[in-house]
Amino acid sequence: EETDATGLHVFPGFMDVHIHSRDPGATHKEDFYHSTWAAAAGGLTTVFEMPNTNPPVNHVENFHKQVENLQPKAHVDFALWAICLGHLNINEIQSLHEAGAVAFKFFWGYAVHKKTYQLMYNYKPEMEDVIPPFQDGEVYDMFQEVAKTGKPFAIHAENNELIQHLTQKVEESGRRDYGALLQGRPNLAEATTIQTGISFAKDAGTRLHVLHVSTEEGVELIRQAQQEGYPITSETCPHFLYLSNKDFEKIGPHMKVYPPVKYEKDQNGLWKGIADGVVSVACSDHAPHTEEEKDGDLWSIPAGMCGVETLAPLMIHAVSEGRITPYELGKLLSSQPARLFGIYPQKGSLQIGTDADLTLVDFKRQKTIHKHELHSKSKVTPYDGFQLQGAPVATIVRGTTMMKDGAVTEEPAGRVVKP
Ligand code: NCD
Ligand code: ZN
Ligand code: ZN
Repeated sequence: EETDATGLHVFPGFMDVHIHSRDPGATHKEDFYHSTWAAAAGGLTTVFEMPNTNPPVNHVENFHKQVENLQPKAHVDFALWAICLGHLNINEIQSLHEAGAVAFKFFWGYAVHKKTYQLMYNYKPEMEDVIPPFQDGEVYDMFQEVAKTGKPFAIHAENNELIQHLTQKVEESGRRDYGALLQGRPNLAEATTIQTGISFAKDAGTRLHVLHVSTEEGVELIRQAQQEGYPITSETCPHFLYLSNKDFEKIGPHMKVYPPVKYEKDQNGLWKGIADGVVSVACSDHAPHTEEEKDGDLWSIPAGMCGVETLAPLMIHAVSEGRITPYELGKLLSSQPARLFGIYPQKGSLQIGTDADLTLVDFKRQKTIHKHELHSKSKVTPYDGFQLQGAPVATIVRGTTMMKDGAVTEEPAGRVVKP
């Protein structure tokens, strides 16, 4: 099929290296058919699926099962993350690596209740001792073990002990507003964990990747480590770039996400980090929950929102706002993630030919985000009504047009990608 690209910008296929499709385990929230359908609609040719499914991707057998589960539903190509669960699966890291896991995620300090862990990790009583906080020694062992693979060790950086302590204090004060949430999960909680992660990575020779960075402090710590020459990388998400605590009044609990959206000064620090290359990846952290689950008290609702379909549109908008250039857009959404995760030039390079991954962008097109037009199962988005300048107008996966002018193919044709 021919696509006329006159007047359009042609990019190497955009990718989202951080999505949670809840498949298997919580497919009432989302599944891989819908998340990758939404990905194609949003101009993405590749996604990386996070491992906190139920069962999780914690050993090689589950890795292979997950490829079998996801491939028939995939509208775009995909890679799989593996999870690090301390001593429970430290002996599985090498085989997960050899099987083709793209990288390793560690939920370091994640103040969740046992119930959430039950869902995320198929919690069993014998897992009692892996509920955060993890002991530093156990964490350090994981840094060393993943270092042997040469792949990124990616951390969800929130200091659980500090969060539990401060959240309890603010709860006792009776406050339940967004400001209280931020007092319970302060910038310091991210910074202290990133700092420890950097120290461990320097010593163990680990390629540390900091997931969903939300603070200026975090950016500055990563900048310093990079300047010292360490292979430390980071990603951020549109919600940290476009939203701040001030938006809670308008958007409400739907914007609850971990780590939480912080302050305007953090927005600015993150844009600066992007401009300087300290933050080299833009991703969505697509983490759907149903509308019913998200409608309620800020304290008790789950964290996470949809984002896979709005990632590229929001980053394209940043070009129109003059925050980044088209060239930087291509790096943030394609070549840099592909290189970082070892799938370049298989992905992330501008190929010419019948098997190319391409995203076509029309910077002149104006588009408003309407939540009910989203293709994901859940439509929980903070961006309903956002008016954007520029839009992806075609998604081509290995030569096959999966999306054209907003119309998405119903036939899955995605394949697993391995480094
Ligand atoms: C994610 C989820 O729900 O799986 N939630 C979130 O708020 N970001 C987990 C995560 O990415 O840490
Ligand atoms: Zn996370
Ligand atoms: Zn996530």
